[in-house]
Amino acid sequence: MTTAAQAEAKVFPPSAETVARAHVDAEKYTQMYEASVNDPVKFWGEHGKRIDWIKPYTQVKDVNYDFGSVKINWYADGTLNVSANCLDRHLKTRGDQTAIIWEPDDPNDEAQHITYAELHRRTCRMANILESMGVRKGDRVVIYLPMIPEAAYAMLACARIGAIHSIVFAGFSPDALAARVNGCDAKVIITADEAPRGGRKTPLKSNADAALLHCKDTVKCLVVKRTGGQTTWIDGRDYDYNEMALEADDYCAPAEMNAEDPLFILYTSGSTGQPKGVVHTTGGYLVYAAMTHEITFDYHDGDIYWCTADVGWVTGHSYIVYGPLANGATTLMFEGVPTYPDASRFWQVCEKHKVNQFYTAPTAIRALMGQGNEFVEKCDLSSLKTLGTVGEPINPEAWNWYNDVVGKGKCPIVDTWWQTETGGHMMTPLPGAHATKPGSAMKPFFGVQPVVLDPQSGVEITGNGVEGVLCIKDSWPGQMRTVWGDHERFEKTYFSDYKGYYFTGDGCRRDEDGDYWITGRVDDVINVSGHRMGTAEVESALVAHAAVAEAAVVGYPHEIKGQGIYCYVTLMNDREPSDELLKELRTWVRTEIGPIASPDVIQWAPGLPKTRSGKIMRRILRKIAENDFGSLGDTSTLADPSVVEDLIANRANK
Ligand code: WT7
Repeated sequence: MTTAAQAEAKVFPPSAETVARAHVDAEKYTQMYEASVNDPVKFWGEHGKRIDWIKPYTQVKDVNYDFGSVKINWYADGTLNVSANCLDRHLKTRGDQTAIIWEPDDPNDEAQHITYAELHRRTCRMANILESMGVRKGDRVVIYLPMIPEAAYAMLACARIGAIHSIVFAGFSPDALAARVNGCDAKVIITADEAPRGGRKTPLKSNADAALLHCKDTVKCLVVKRTGGQTTWIDGRDYDYNEMALEADDYCAPAEMNAEDPLFILYTSGSTGQPKGVVHTTGGYLVYAAMTHEITFDYHDGDIYWCTADVGWVTGHSYIVYGPLANGATTLMFEGVPTYPDASRFWQVCEKHKVNQFYTAPTAIRALMGQGNEFVEKCDLSSLKTLGTVGEPINPEAWNWYNDVVGKGKCPIVDTWWQTETGGHMMTPLPGAHATKPGSAMKPFFGVQPVVLDPQSGVEITGNGVEGVLCIKDSWPGQMRTVWGDHERFEKTYFSDYKGYYFTGDGCRRDEDGDYWITGRVDDVINVSGHRMGTAEVESALVAHAAVAEAAVVGYPHEIKGQGIYCYVTLMNDREPSDELLKELRTWVRTEIGPIASPDVIQWAPGLPKTRSGKIMRRILRKIAENDFGSLGDTSTLADPSVVEDLIANRANK
């Protein structure tokens, strides 16, 4: 095994070919970066023009990071429509060009090539259907769909009429879906009969039925036919998309939206409480998604671009739909999973559609790496030019495998660090501008000013070879604007710990060369297969079970998932631990939150380590979960130190 330090010592400069092709080389990066931070108004004033405005903006930036009066506005007096930017403006020049390549779960089913003209028609029809169901500008629509083209039609249709979409990943449970529908008071849920994935089917419509029991009875359900599987039907509440699409008009005029009107809400986990609705707005978001998509991946006209994420996550919003389509790109949408029918699926899809830019998550890379090289080597990957990763720190082994076996040493790897909150890439190497280092997100994107702060004092640590918490000075156009319905929570979460900065929740190191390495979350958020999970959420799901008195949840290192979910559970006095109960609790959490929150380990804990004031000492629980008993630190402040010995002695086998 290579140690991180050994692997780190290596630097991979881009090839001459990559540099020659790139939109941005080293010199241009430096010049543009400096311009972007020295005069952000001038810089973003110019780059805002990459999209079409109905009424051009005269103001560029109006930002206040002061706790108590945080306000973030970009292009505030401009008007535009996102769907017109992603569709209408391309019709003259690329109406017949493929906008979306759809690759179904089953490789024996036919892929679809949807042109910009067709995507425009489909979106207009969906928009007209939503309007006929009573959806108006500013209304919320929840999208709970598989990775099918209709998911893109639905997003763009909402954008077209000015409705705000909130996508709920199809791996979430009915309860989680209901919470999100109610959280934003949505008028409509768009779903499908079933979601095929990896040869199995998730019954989305029946999940939606179950969720709707907990929603206002005015909420309507628009159902897309995907498998033709049977569903129950309630007349007056359920609407048949496929039938309505036959009748719907092919044109719907795009609504004129203000730059700061919300485009979408996306729920994401935090360190406390229930998930929060991250709000992104129209103008700045689109400028930032489009610009980062083009420059980070070095996308050129005619290229085939594939991001393997799901539209249920922000990556799917910015880098499957909005960024690529605003740029007139061909974007591939994949319904399946990397290992179905076997571990060569990703590479077969790359070969079949001659993919040029490929963007995936470290967890997928690690899982495929473990299956052996033959799955990759039997495919022709010569079309690949740029490889990307996102979601969590990538370990050097996985990076090297990606570089050598997938990229054959000729494709730059862009390790993109960003968050649901940031709307787009914040730090990443650019293909033609930077030499890469395995595991480093390298450099800030234009306009982004990362700072490393001392976690205790909040003072900025200058110079290189330093480590601390990662904050961002000043704003960028893709930044979230508020938490839906709770601006106070927004300010408290991101602007209260370190005054005057946006706090990312991540730790980071700036190495001797001034390059950035993300060291992971510094809060109670864990990262499971690149999906964010609040330990508080899993805890509250566990204690909602009648047998559970108390629960504490932490992350621990997991070979494939990056982090796994480790739960310490204290049972009610009258309950005994058993394998059945363990299974029951696991199923319980899956039902409460969804399969993505499945506990990896449950350890019965007769007691939890608490301070005398009753605070659970998670630091200790983390160490035990990590199998690192040597460095438990000071346990003298515990109310009952013997609890720790019991937990160590009975540490669950993983
Ligand atoms: C958290 C954000 C942004 C889309 C996917 C996840 C971690 C993300 C990287 C990376 C190291 C990363 C951070 C961040 N993260 N990308 N390239 N290297 N860590 O979005 O669910 O909002 O999670 O994911 O910890 O804070 P998200």
